[in-house]
Amino acid sequence: DWTMKSYAATAVEQIRRKVGDKKVLLALSGGVDSSVAAVLLHRAIGKNLICIFVDHGLLRKNEADEVEEVFCRTYDMNFTRVCAQERFLKKLAGHREPEEKRKIIGEEFIRVFEEEAKKIGKVDFLAQGTIYPDVVESGKGDAALIKSHHNVGGLPDTVDFDEIIEPLRDLFKDEVRALGEELGIPHHLVWRQPFPGPGLAIRIIGEITEEKLEILREADYILRDEIAKAGLDREIWQYFAVLTGMRSVGVMGDERTYDYTIALRAVTSVDGMTADWARIPYDTLAKISNRIVNEVKHVNRLVYDITSKPPATIEWE
Ligand code: XMP
Repeated sequence: DWTMKSYAATAVEQIRRKVGDKKVLLALSGGVDSSVAAVLLHRAIGKNLICIFVDHGLLRKNEADEVEEVFCRTYDMNFTRVCAQERFLKKLAGHREPEEKRKIIGEEFIRVFEEEAKKIGKVDFLAQGTIYPDVVESGKGDAALIKSHHNVGGLPDTVDFDEIIEPLRDLFKDEVRALGEELGIPHHLVWRQPFPGPGLAIRIIGEITEEKLEILREADYILRDEIAKAGLDREIWQYFAVLTGMRSVGVMGDERTYDYTIALRAVTSVDGMTADWARIPYDTLAKISNRIVNEVKHVNRLVYDITSKPPATIEWE
């Protein structure tokens, strides 16, 4: 795409002029925006971009490894993966409330990021993958707060830096994706479905434990696999598994089971503000259901969420 080619070239030039040979620090989540920002900055200033990836243990199956693989190996970036899974689990222990969980994760994220930043010492620039809709959104003041949408990666206020740098500030989401393609970022990263900052923590109803995370990761992995095989991954806006807090009675062989219910959530949407439940064909649903109850331990029932937004939200918490 010619427009994005010249956009990328101009942006790289501007970053070089602004940054010179100083250092830039970026919190990389592996999401579309921070990934595109990272690759753009890396193209401009190479190893003077320092990426910190906080692995909070709440990502989907294989995701953290994939992020490391792409940015560390493919791009050879100055990249640190902070393995903070246990810290987050400890902080979350005993908490059941969605808003409380969001707050804990947001705060812990900043704490971990700050500690890493301190090891580097003074940085000149802090980079963020802010895109145009974020800029507009934050100018609106607080409309009725439904969920405190913590975008993990919010601005840490104790990190010592001179200036903020936001190379995607003028772009809409589809432009960010086009830029990502232009920069040669792997398809699956550029076209990733939206994923909330607090990750799987808000897809497990109630308390988070490693066991529940494990169950959810496996179920979600199967769901994504079957959606991709059915060729539905581009037309469904967001699709994921939820570990409900409910257990129910089932039967396996001659044995009674008492295990978790997984809910599938899949929606079509334009911007996430409103959404309709996706009409996944019955045969695909059947495959997903069979595989999940057969392959994932401690799951004996599967339900499909057929509510639109409003009145339901996309995420269950
Ligand atoms: P809801 O559940 O409010 O979600 O209908 C709308 C969109 O926002 C995502 N979402 C979040 N994103 N931090 C985020 O960065 C959050 O705390 C959060 N909660 C929801 C959700 O996945 C959907 O795309």
